[in-house]
Amino acid sequence: MADGSSIEVIPSGAALGAEIAGLDLSGEVDDASFGKVLQAWADHLVLRFRGQGLDEEALLRFSRRFGALDPNPTRPVKVPNHPASNEINVISNILVNDAPIGGLGNSELVWHQDMSYKPMPPKASILYGVETPETGGDTWFYNLYTAYETLPDVLKDRIAGLSCKHDATRNSAGQLRAGFEPEYANQDRPGAIHPLVIRHPDTGRSALHLGRRPNAWIVGLSDAESDALLDDSWAHIEKGGHHWAQQWRPGDVVIWDNRCTLHRRGTLDPAQRRLMYRTQVGGGAPPVAA
Ligand code: OGA
Ligand code: MN
Repeated sequence: MADGSSIEVIPSGAALGAEIAGLDLSGEVDDASFGKVLQAWADHLVLRFRGQGLDEEALLRFSRRFGALDPNPTRPVKVPNHPASNEINVISNILVNDAPIGGLGNSELVWHQDMSYKPMPPKASILYGVETPETGGDTWFYNLYTAYETLPDVLKDRIAGLSCKHDATRNSAGQLRAGFEPEYANQDRPGAIHPLVIRHPDTGRSALHLGRRPNAWIVGLSDAESDALLDDSWAHIEKGGHHWAQQWRPGDVVIWDNRCTLHRRGTLDPAQRRLMYRTQVGGGAPPVAA
């Protein structure tokens, strides 16, 4: 009987993250097993499945269990799309004939939520390690529920009721996406406006919703006031303590809840190949204020 009993949930012991053992994602995942995955995801925000062997079809099939997929984000010029699918975002530092085969290169990535510059950002991102480096290129995750809960009361009061514009023009490596100007005034900058504190639609918990620091603007404040309040809020994140780092092995699948976590990548050694496939599961609704 497919009752999900072969699945084991192993918490990371950190502020978020758990490993799911005993589940092969290459075939059909039965409803009982998937129910266990969903519960573990709500409990731990980031899940890792090791030792998977997925082709693109299998990755898309598993990703769609969580909901309809969003198309890939707009890439910088010269970064190609996956040749067969606009729902698989190729993240890679590999060059072929001096040209990148995927996005985000070798640089460190800032803390971010994926595609929060959209009116309806993805609820989940799924990242699959095809080729992974021996060292470096870890992906760090941050719990935005506990980040909010531990925010000093004065900061909670200062951000209450405020909304932030999330910049659409640059990716998490700081590269300009195709079709945008390098500079904008905050009022004119392309992006979506979301509350700084949101209520998670499934768990009902309050979470900080910061997006990313570069080019963020708290609507209605002067640039200087906005920068000061954002810097204070991000200083709380940079203090750490609510994070967990994924060290990649080939065959790892990691899913994160994009509504209540941040992530960032450490630097990569250009001499070590890294090839990842990412999908993004549509959120279906704008973030709601807590
Ligand atoms: C992403 C991302 C981090 C990484 O795919 O959204 O931020 O470690 N990737 O490649
Ligand atoms: Mn990302």
